[in-house]
Amino acid sequence: MGKTKVIAFANNKGGSGKSTTCSNVGYGMAMEGKRVLLVDGDMQMNLTLSFFPEDRALEIAKGKKNLYEALRAEADLTDYVMPTSYTGLDIVPSSTLMSSIEYELFSKWEREQILSRCLEGLVTSEKYDYILIDSPPTLGGWVMNIMCASDFLLIPLEASPWGLFGLANMFNFYGQAKRIAKDIDLLGVVITKADERKNYFKETSKTLSELENVYVFRNYIRVDSAVEWAQDNSMPVLAYKKNSRSAKEYYALAKEIIENADRKKQH
Ligand SMILES: Nc1ncnc2c1ncn2[C@@H]1O[C@H](COP(=O)(O)OP(=O)(O)OP(=O)(O)O)[C@@H](O)[C@H]1O
Ligand SMILES: [Mg+2]
Repeated sequence: MGKTKVIAFANNKGGSGKSTTCSNVGYGMAMEGKRVLLVDGDMQMNLTLSFFPEDRALEIAKGKKNLYEALRAEADLTDYVMPTSYTGLDIVPSSTLMSSIEYELFSKWEREQILSRCLEGLVTSEKYDYILIDSPPTLGGWVMNIMCASDFLLIPLEASPWGLFGLANMFNFYGQAKRIAKDIDLLGVVITKADERKNYFKETSKTLSELENVYVFRNYIRVDSAVEWAQDNSMPVLAYKKNSRSAKEYYALAKEIIENADRKKQH
C-alpha cells in the first residue's frame, strides 16, 4: 500500500449516513492537517451538494468536469479535481448522469478496474493522504469498481429497525470483492443516527459487537438536527456548526479512523 489511503464508504441500505459521514470525516481529517480528496460516486450528488449549492452542482452535472465524464473517457482523475472552500479538502464531483454508469461499464475492458485505473495517477503522486469515496446504495458493478479502487471499506450503519437488515449482503459482497480487489480490508462499522433512548440502538450495538472480525468504531454519531441545517447550507456540519454535538462526534470519529488506518497499514 502506498502513502495514500483510499477508503470506500459503502452500505447497500439507503439513508445509512454514507454521504454525511464521508463529507464530515473528510473535513475532520483536513482539520487534522491531512490532505484529503473526496470522490462522489453517487448520482444523487449528495457529497457534491455538501460543498456546492444546488445551482452550481447542476452546472457541474451538465458540464465536463465530473466523475461520470472521467469514467466514460477512462481518464486520469487528476484533471477532474475541484477545490472546495476548505483548506486541504478537494473533490471530484458527481453527475446525475451516473444513473447510467452500470450500462456504460458493461462494454469496457476489465470493467471492475476502471475507477482504479482512473485513480492511479492521484494515488501514485501521493498528493493526498486520504481519498474518500462515497458510494450509492447499491451492490453492482459500479460499487465493485469502488471496492477494487480502495484499500479500506467503512460501513456507516443506521441504528434503526432495518439498519441491520441487508448487512449480511454487504459482507457477502465485500467477500466477493476481496477475490478480485487489491487487498481491500474492512476498516469497520460506524453507527449513525443513533438515539440512545431507543432500544434498537442498544440492539444494533449488541448485534455488531457479537460479529467476529468486525471492528465497531468507538465513536458513533447521534441524531442531530444540525446535520440537516448544515446540508441545507451546502456545508458539512463540522464547518457549519463546529460546536454542535454531531460535529464533535464526527471530529472524534475522523481521528479514530486516522489512527486505525495507520495501524492497519503498518501490518
Ligand atoms: N446524525 C444525523 N442526525 C440527523 N440526521 C442525519 C444524521 N446523519 C444523516 N442524517 C440525515 O439522514 C439522511 C440520510 O443521510 P445520508 O444522505 O448521509 O445517507 P446515505 O447513506 O448517504 O444515503 P443514500 O443511501 O441515499 O446515499 C439525510 O437526510 C441526512 O440529513
Ligand atoms: Mg449518499
